[in-house]
Amino acid sequence: MNVNLLKNIAVTLAFCLFAFNGLASGHGESAEKKIGILLVAFGSSEASAQVSFKNIDSKVKNTFPGVPVRWAYTSHIIRKKLAKQGKLLDSPEVALAKMQEEDFTHVVVQSLHTIAGAEYHDLIKTVSGFRSMGQFQALRMGSPLMATQEDMEQVVEAALSSIPKNRKKNEAVVLMGHGTHHPANAFYAALMFQLQLRDPYFFVGTVEGYPEVDLIRELLQKKGIKKAYLLPFMSVAGDHAKNDMASDEEDSWKSILTAAGIKCFPVLKGTAEYDRYVDIWVNHIKAPLSHFE
Ligand code: CO
Repeated sequence: MNVNLLKNIAVTLAFCLFAFNGLASGHGESAEKKIGILLVAFGSSEASAQVSFKNIDSKVKNTFPGVPVRWAYTSHIIRKKLAKQGKLLDSPEVALAKMQEEDFTHVVVQSLHTIAGAEYHDLIKTVSGFRSMGQFQALRMGSPLMATQEDMEQVVEAALSSIPKNRKKNEAVVLMGHGTHHPANAFYAALMFQLQLRDPYFFVGTVEGYPEVDLIRELLQKKGIKKAYLLPFMSVAGDHAKNDMASDEEDSWKSILTAAGIKCFPVLKGTAEYDRYVDIWVNHIKAPLSHFE
């Protein structure tokens, strides 16, 4: 069974469970307004990722005091892994169903993804499913980190401000994005282009999409670069950062670039650990939230 079918079934089930509820409470009196924020991340089972999530959580709560904040993870695999450790994380469907139960009337669903890829578009489907149930008076979405040209310009600033202090001009800064089969993958190369207009030794590659690490290696070699800082371009420094980027495994970015004569300095810090990046996500909540006032 494919994921979308499962998702549709989940939304339909949630509808059946809560439709009656909706009817029962609809005796003409308008429900008291209750505004909430649902933060939706891909999720991570790594303990090292928690610092990123905590940082976002506290920034959101400080920016919107008094607005309850809930969390959901889109990754089924991560949720299953965590459940085995006794940590129960909700899917967006379950989190929204719970918020219906808690009588929230106005909710902003904020994507904490990096690009508007497959996970984000699945989230749109979930949200529109809940919208059509009609129990929430308003359900609005906040876009991921990098969804518009304006976002990209802010990401460029955030990336430039995240350069390790000791880095010299002739040393490379290499961002490792996740990458995807989704057309939104094009944002990674577009980001590299815009970063290089500001700093020609900035590179952006991906683990599972384009540009691949082999291309990044060629570009570094062409410029005669001997030293590179490797930074995850993902909200958390989780599994990919530790294994695919910084490990000593032979196919890690560190190993591949080191074999090409480039000295590598991995920085295990997710984008959500830097305030400049987090501000972009937090700002994406402001416009949808302002519609509720
Ligand atoms: Co992955």
